[in-house]
Amino acid sequence: MCGIVGYIGDRDATPIILGGLKRLEYRGYDSAGVAVLDDGQIEIRRDAGKLSHLESLVNDMPVHGKIGIGHTRWATHGEPNARNAHPHIGSTGEFVVVHNGIVENYLALREELEAEGTEFKSDTDTETIVHLVEKFFAIEGNLLDAVRRTLQHLKGAHGIVVMSSREPDKIVAARVGNAGGVVIGLGENENYVASDLPAILEHTRKVVFLESHQIAVVTKKNVKVIDTDGKPINTQVQRIAWDPVAAEKGEYRHFMQKEIHEQVRSLTDTLAGRVDFDAGRVTLHELNLDAAKAKKIQKIIITACGTAAHAGMVGKILIERIARVPVEVAIASEFRYADPLVDENTVILAISQSGETADTLAAMEEGRSKGGILWSNVNAIGSQAMRIADGCISMQVGPEIGVASTKAFTAPLVDMYLLAVYLGDLRGTLDPDQRFKLVNDLMGIPSLAGVCLDREDEIVALARKFMNMDHMLYLGRGINMPIAYEGALKLKEISYIHAEGYPAGEMKHGPIALIDRSMPVVALAPKDPWYDKMISQIEQALARGGEVIAVATDGDERIPDLTDNIIWVPEVPWLLSPVITSIPLQLFAYHIASLLGLDVDQPRNLAKSVTVE
Ligand code: AGP
Repeated sequence: MCGIVGYIGDRDATPIILGGLKRLEYRGYDSAGVAVLDDGQIEIRRDAGKLSHLESLVNDMPVHGKIGIGHTRWATHGEPNARNAHPHIGSTGEFVVVHNGIVENYLALREELEAEGTEFKSDTDTETIVHLVEKFFAIEGNLLDAVRRTLQHLKGAHGIVVMSSREPDKIVAARVGNAGGVVIGLGENENYVASDLPAILEHTRKVVFLESHQIAVVTKKNVKVIDTDGKPINTQVQRIAWDPVAAEKGEYRHFMQKEIHEQVRSLTDTLAGRVDFDAGRVTLHELNLDAAKAKKIQKIIITACGTAAHAGMVGKILIERIARVPVEVAIASEFRYADPLVDENTVILAISQSGETADTLAAMEEGRSKGGILWSNVNAIGSQAMRIADGCISMQVGPEIGVASTKAFTAPLVDMYLLAVYLGDLRGTLDPDQRFKLVNDLMGIPSLAGVCLDREDEIVALARKFMNMDHMLYLGRGINMPIAYEGALKLKEISYIHAEGYPAGEMKHGPIALIDRSMPVVALAPKDPWYDKMISQIEQALARGGEVIAVATDGDERIPDLTDNIIWVPEVPWLLSPVITSIPLQLFAYHIASLLGLDVDQPRNLAKSVTVE
């Protein structure tokens, strides 16, 4: 999970940057680097592997200077090696960039730049950024405008920090979308830039968080923030409390809100190191699979509890559709007593954020005792479900503190998609064109998640309108049916409002009796293969006097005729739509609970890790 640290002041930048990167080490990374302006020249040290490698490199070949930027990289484009590690330097050696996010149009940009004679030195998407900055500096004559113009050409969500020997008195930092934050730390005659607060907290508690589409020009004496159109912004300086918990929450009121907002980054990290966009391939090394082993698998049983089980239900659809392997989903607390049919060609795949859920572990043991192959998809590193599995796809989301799982729900959705493509490839059920298309569809997912987050204010307005309801019914079909379950679970666990998730087609077999104005219906109706069916479910609910909140795809022309309560989501290939439809429902539940003044992060009667039966 990429981290950024920058420093400008009177002290030696290198140890400050290395110290900051060390504080972000827990997030995981596969290479690291630092660039310092040393006597007017940009000097870079970078290497694959841990920070200790970088530290030895810096010890062997010291760099000193009063301004510098550093990065820990989790590879998305190109191998994790020294060549691909950040910082990336331009052709003239005068501009250097570190970056979090994915440049979704990097191939087109790279072709354009190469056609103009630019030589690329790495396989990364990030290198396009530094070449663009260099190109636009030649036209604009100043770094800020060069960065502004560069941003206009980049698709996706980004945190970018740039330094140049042509303007040695500043660092320019920009945030577009939600590829992780950009925070500026304010000191006395020195300032800092970072992707995450912990990197700079030992130096300062006075910070400015950049919003999306803002750029900061950071000199040692001051910080100027403008928007991407060049308009100055009046920034609010925040004082971060010394309490480490409050400090970790940063700009958010609750961990849950922070974790919802971390999803652009966690989804980016989920792809990192596993997806090769150029080759149109997915590789999950952690499973130790080859074609022969993959072809022997006759059945996969996904077992999990709660939110993780909902991710498993989406996983079933993905794996069956893409890899054509039969999949069952078993609620772990039931599976352990079900005398399940398992043999040596059956995979038991446990999904668990904590990796310590007693029922899930017992289900894994049940599968093992019957000779099955054990896989897990786990977030907590070193947990039991990770240790006892034959192969573990680790979720790349970092610690999740809020009891209500959010980023550890969308990550397994993508993990299941990756698994489906990987299995389909190994088993020969995907032709290369299909595989390329499926892999390419992943590229835009992090920034589409960011589009959903940018619409938070619209969700707050809906939350205000419905916060005093006693009941809500969530309906979905097909791949969005589990999202109806998950949306309802989120609402009930943190707001204590009774909510039921239901397959929409089942409404007429019972729940329709409940519908009236006091029982609003949340209807998931994105443009997926079940769209027409969902429209008729909405009509049926309206005919019974129900009030409908519809989750609809941008540009939909039928839904606005049916209801005014619409949660708009960006268009997305339908196999990935649960990632996008679930995010506004997380926000909806969060804002209702928060408006009700409830203890969002630690709801009553619930624990983050359920280690009892
Ligand atoms: C999620 O919001 C819930 N708190 C809960 O359903 C959770 O998903 C379930 O207890 C499983 O936990 P695990 O993923 O750690 O195994």
